[in-house]
Amino acid sequence: MKQDILEILQGIVPEQVDENMIEEPTYTHLGDYAFPCFSLAKVLKKSPVLIAEEIAQRISDPRVQTAKAVNGYVNFFMNKPYFSQHILETIINQSNQYGSSHIGQGSVVTIDMSSPNIAKPFSMGHLRSTVIGNSISLLLEKSGYQPVKINYLGDWGTQFGKLLVAYRLWGSEKKVQDAPIETLLALYIRFHEEAEIDETLNDQGRAAFKSLEDGDSEVLALWKWFRTESLKEFQKIYDLLGVSFDSENGEAYYNDKMEPIVEELTQKQLLVKSDGAQVVEIGDDMPPCLIKKSDGATLYATRDITAALDRKHTYNFAKSLYVVGNEQSLHFKQIKTVLNKMGYGWSASIQHVPFGLILKDGEKLSTRKGNIILLERVLKEAIQLASVNIEEKNPNLKNKIEMAEAIGVGAIIFSDLKQHRKHDIEFNLTKMLQTEGETGPYIQYTCARAYSILRKAETNSHDVQVNDVNDYEWVIIKLLNQFPNVVSRATTSLDPSLIAKFAVDLAQSFNSFYGNVQVLTEDEGRNYRLALVHSVTIVLKEALRLLGMKAPQEM
Ligand code: ARG
Repeated sequence: MKQDILEILQGIVPEQVDENMIEEPTYTHLGDYAFPCFSLAKVLKKSPVLIAEEIAQRISDPRVQTAKAVNGYVNFFMNKPYFSQHILETIINQSNQYGSSHIGQGSVVTIDMSSPNIAKPFSMGHLRSTVIGNSISLLLEKSGYQPVKINYLGDWGTQFGKLLVAYRLWGSEKKVQDAPIETLLALYIRFHEEAEIDETLNDQGRAAFKSLEDGDSEVLALWKWFRTESLKEFQKIYDLLGVSFDSENGEAYYNDKMEPIVEELTQKQLLVKSDGAQVVEIGDDMPPCLIKKSDGATLYATRDITAALDRKHTYNFAKSLYVVGNEQSLHFKQIKTVLNKMGYGWSASIQHVPFGLILKDGEKLSTRKGNIILLERVLKEAIQLASVNIEEKNPNLKNKIEMAEAIGVGAIIFSDLKQHRKHDIEFNLTKMLQTEGETGPYIQYTCARAYSILRKAETNSHDVQVNDVNDYEWVIIKLLNQFPNVVSRATTSLDPSLIAKFAVDLAQSFNSFYGNVQVLTEDEGRNYRLALVHSVTIVLKEALRLLGMKAPQEM
């Protein structure tokens, strides 16, 4: 519709208008769109009030019902039946392709996401990275990019040396098999406790990691086993969330690929010795980037630099995103700077996509303090709560288990994505599962309600003859019309919360329509109202899909 206004105005005052000048008034009595004439006064040498009046008078277009000049603005009231018909037809024809575009032109974007650490519980931070990364990848895909989802597993580093020592001293094969993550975490914690008393343990840990890096087959076999067992546990979570990856090359994958990079850094004279370690100095405002420890062991940054080069080589990405918590900002600045110093201009296309913490009762979660939330347990609990709700509301529902999963998991995803990712979020299961307010279940219920109207109507042919559009309907039409724009803004700003907010708005206006308008009444508007409901299901379902959620047909 905005494009239409633009076109009409360009016919009257060419060269004076661009899209950004057209406003959408907050109050509906001021029209659907408004065009302020103040900036035109200078060029046209007339007062804005006069310009507005002249423009308003010259508008005669079937798309506009009335154009009113008010205090230097032209307020546009659109031809509601005309646009309603056009928008509903477009949505029903394009179906789930509505809102898709080609702005990405097939360019590749890698998304470093999820990336939990093996032998440790999958944390809430990793949940955020998984859910945000997944939604961003869906948005990119809808906008014509080619996303590559990479699970950069934390499966390498000195901690594995410690774990190997701990397992040899106190471990049991059966326990690891029965409850891998719990057992390995307990071993790791015990290692730290005992190392306070017996300092030689730390040396043993370092030595064990060294033999791992050197490829000692016995140590390697143990490490592989820990990794496989951990991955099995993580897979359960990914299955529940419905998330998959294009690559699971983690840190370990780069073990034998770092030496040439260290070599290159040396040749480019970027490495300096500092307390026995080798670092790259990167200016006064940042600490140097550690590349090798004094014992020759590589570090997190060494692996990330190597991985970035390898990804550029493999995927030739146009952009490379890292969906990782705020607290790692410095790390990503450092690796970008090092790559730039190496002469790789494309380092500018590396972007850290940070997010905030998850708080419980206002406090940060930490593994050390013991107030960790085990994700698998949380997901199960959410599903359990959702199934209690189902038993209360709709005990005869088919596929109850599947539904409870869609609702429980959806509630967690939605509560994460509804705020801008940079905000810290408070974790409250009961709140996120409520069916009223800005929650996942609220949107899903609304969607199911719309589906049930369509089922009752028992017709699939919605010929859209629109004669009259009431205010409830018009609010919905305007929202539906905005969807493609919301998708493209969410994609460019890597911000799924725009989609979540849109879904809330659409669900709310649908519910007030539903509460005030008899959809199924047999009159001449029936088909049009059904087309409206049908369009709402298409767009709500697609919005939920872009967030990584399901839209149950019945709840
Ligand atoms: N495994 C890391 C952690 O849990 C996150 C990895 C993030 N990605 C990266 N390329 N550094 O902190």
